Amino acid sequence: MVVEPRVKDFICTTAHPVGCAANVKNQIEYVKSKGKAEGPKKVLVIGASTGYGLASRISVAYGYGADTLGVMFEKESNGRRTASAGFYNTRAFEEQAHKDGLYAKSINGDAFSVEIKEQVINTIKEDLGKVDMIVYSLAAPRRTMPDGTRYTSVLKTVGEEYSNKTLVLKDNTITEAHISSATEEEINATIKVMGGEDWIDWMKALNDAGVLADKVITVAYSYIGPKITFPIYAEGSIGQAKKDLYKSCDIINERWPQIKAKVAINKALVTQSSAAIPIVPLYITLLYKVMKDKGLHEGCIEQMQRLFMDKILDDSQVDENGFVRMDDWEMRDDVQSVVAERWDTVSNDNVKEIADIDGYWEDFYNMFGFKIDGVDYSADVDIM
Ligand code: NAI
Repeated sequence: MVVEPRVKDFICTTAHPVGCAANVKNQIEYVKSKGKAEGPKKVLVIGASTGYGLASRISVAYGYGADTLGVMFEKESNGRRTASAGFYNTRAFEEQAHKDGLYAKSINGDAFSVEIKEQVINTIKEDLGKVDMIVYSLAAPRRTMPDGTRYTSVLKTVGEEYSNKTLVLKDNTITEAHISSATEEEINATIKVMGGEDWIDWMKALNDAGVLADKVITVAYSYIGPKITFPIYAEGSIGQAKKDLYKSCDIINERWPQIKAKVAINKALVTQSSAAIPIVPLYITLLYKVMKDKGLHEGCIEQMQRLFMDKILDDSQVDENGFVRMDDWEMRDDVQSVVAERWDTVSNDNVKEIADIDGYWEDFYNMFGFKIDGVDYSADVDIM
């Protein structure tokens, strides 16, 4: 079948298996080109198939030479529809890792569930013995509890409603986005899904099962960003969940002294999750342009390679809150001042000049395996 991108709002409903494999290979090559470092050797990555989690997995495998066990929630192909990008990414990663003599196995299922936690623990016991690093990189729209209760996260403000400019992705125009405020129930549901409770559950389950090494590091990801995005992100419903994640980090550190838990604040990047947040894509296009002009731009793999090789193992590399700041370049005054100035002036007349619309779409298509150099998109591919 010849696979073409089918874009609907902020998602592409098809994925290209050869393109996804090329994307993974490019990320592996990048990490290899940067050299190795001493580090954890058996790593569990929860949310390992796309975005920051996939880049984390590649960074630890090819940076530390680590064996990796990944957890993801991805769709397989039914023969007519393609699989999801994360499915193809994971298969490509495993194939390459095996060729390179690295252990790599993945479990496809709901990370929030007790069953998947048990399956992961059994796999660690059988194959790895213990793990010495756990990366928690879930970005999920909903969570089903063991009793069947379902929580759905929302991207809304807390308190006042908020209006600001946004990019209409279907035609690259600027319009006004109106974001309604979340109810108490919606805030609590967002905390249940994107907060830290499940991270704690994972660490408890792994610790109780005796599959954690004597010294183990765990890291989860968050975003802070500039004032423009505060109402929708840091101070919005998702921000409340992230505050819960920070508290959970402290709880893990207090409860289990042999575990070192950290939160890394990452850069705003195009991923399947961030594309869904109103206002953020316009901010990203303005940010990309400024960071590329200054030679500071990074994608997921550059961010994660730098996190694992330069920062995560060095306890001095944290801010006053104990966070590892991977948004250090994004938040530089000389970057943010230009972004803020352009935010005020961006309109339909100048958006193509002052915002990196092409760069946004390039990242977007690349995530699903499209528009990657060297891939023949006119060729028939096996989507299974
Ligand atoms: P993503 O959408 O690319 O990746 C999400 C991962 O979670 C995928 O591997 C997916 O299969 C997995 N997943 C989702 N639901 C699952 C479930 N129920 N069970 C098992 N696996 C499941 O997202 P992205 O952007 O890489 O986000 C990862 C983390 O990074 C999140 O905590 C996010 O808040 C954070 N972050 C993202 C930033 C961005 O700009 N994209 C910036 C800073 C932090």
